[in-house]
Amino acid sequence: MNGIKENDKSVLVTGGAGYIGSHTVAELVENGYKCIVVDNLSNSSYESVARLQILTKTHIPFYKIDLCNYESLENIFEENKIDSVIHFAGLKAVGESTKIPLKYYQNNLIGTLNLLELMGKYNVEKFVFSSSATVYGDATRFPNMIPIPEECPLGPTNPYGNTKFTIEKILNDLYNSNQSSWKFAILRYFNPIGAHPSGLIGEDPLGIPNNLLPYMAQVAVGRRDKLNVFGNDYETRDGTPIRDYIHVVDLAKGHIAALKYLDNKIQKDEGICREWNLGSGKGSTVLEVYDSFCGAVGNKIPYEVAGRRAGDVINLTAKPDRAKRELEWETKLNVDIACKDLWKWTTENPFGYQLKHVVEKFAE
Ligand code: NAD
Ligand code: WQD
Repeated sequence: MNGIKENDKSVLVTGGAGYIGSHTVAELVENGYKCIVVDNLSNSSYESVARLQILTKTHIPFYKIDLCNYESLENIFEENKIDSVIHFAGLKAVGESTKIPLKYYQNNLIGTLNLLELMGKYNVEKFVFSSSATVYGDATRFPNMIPIPEECPLGPTNPYGNTKFTIEKILNDLYNSNQSSWKFAILRYFNPIGAHPSGLIGEDPLGIPNNLLPYMAQVAVGRRDKLNVFGNDYETRDGTPIRDYIHVVDLAKGHIAALKYLDNKIQKDEGICREWNLGSGKGSTVLEVYDSFCGAVGNKIPYEVAGRRAGDVINLTAKPDRAKRELEWETKLNVDIACKDLWKWTTENPFGYQLKHVVEKFAE
């Protein structure tokens, strides 16, 4: 674990071995940033970081540390000159969070509190936080707020969403305690999908995927029998719910835009704590995404209509105007491209990063 020293200013990426974090590290390196990754690998594997090094032809320092361990986390701040933090690390499964809420509160809140405490101690001011559209809850209760602007009242409906909501509040409170020093960007992601076009990094869910695209991908490579479409009796154009799917590479670029925005605040000696939706502004139904993915595969994958999934809402589409105006960021890639990139990742890595590990074990 060689730290980055002295004059090299770097971005500490928590959860950088995970799905969105790894794509953001790729983008950061491409944009000239030095990255340090910290991850406890509870939902990822080191293989993603190894591949990032191949992809970027760069050494990326990696710490296998749990953010909840304050002392271990402090070592990173001692060993490196950190300029900013992008905080992806957290548990993220909505259904699981309703079963083990305390684990979600402990992991997501304590990890974040430790990080903020250490940032204060080591004078690191810039912080980009992975929030989620889930903080809006069922925004359709405000019919004039679809697509959803950042001003829409928040109302998360599950423990996972509550952790994101609470962290947003903590950031606001901290900012209000010393408005000149903190620079906080809260990014509310809509539905990230797809993979890096290289086919080297992508989403690798453990167990049965909860999300639509990873599930379809596993059906397409024969790991699952069929897709269950959760309800086709919603009041939408084809009866299935609408989401704002965003290519993970576009999403990753949103973090660079946010960092640049915060840098600008530093130059002006101003503080900030502000939220931005990262979405495309275009909604797609489940069946539209299904068609798009089947187009990428070149085959109709089997599906069956099942009952509605508890907690699903009819429409979550972003109004991304604020990000466009202030961060000068907007999506460039569409659902078809995301499906094509997902299919490349899946065919080249049908078992995600996992098979590589099996092969390595046998080679030992
Ligand atoms: P992910 O699970 O692939 O990545 C999260 C990473 O954090 C994992 O590698 C995991 O091992 C690590 N981690 C978790 N707890 C940790 C801890 N205490 N200490 C150190 N590392 C820890 O998830 P992702 O999809 O890349 O999501 C990244 C962030 O974006 C999360 O905060 C998630 O809540 C948020 N988000 C994700 C989505 C989505 O649909 N993927 C949507 C909105 C927001
Ligand atoms: C999308 C659509 C399903 C699987 C979740 C979290 C949210 C955010 C993003 C973190 C829905 C349908 C799905 C399947 C299906 N994550 N579907 N069959 O629920 O919009 O958002 O991920 O912050 O907080 O809740 O995403 O991909 O699970 O579902 O029919 O096997 O696909 O009903 O309409 P969701 P999803």
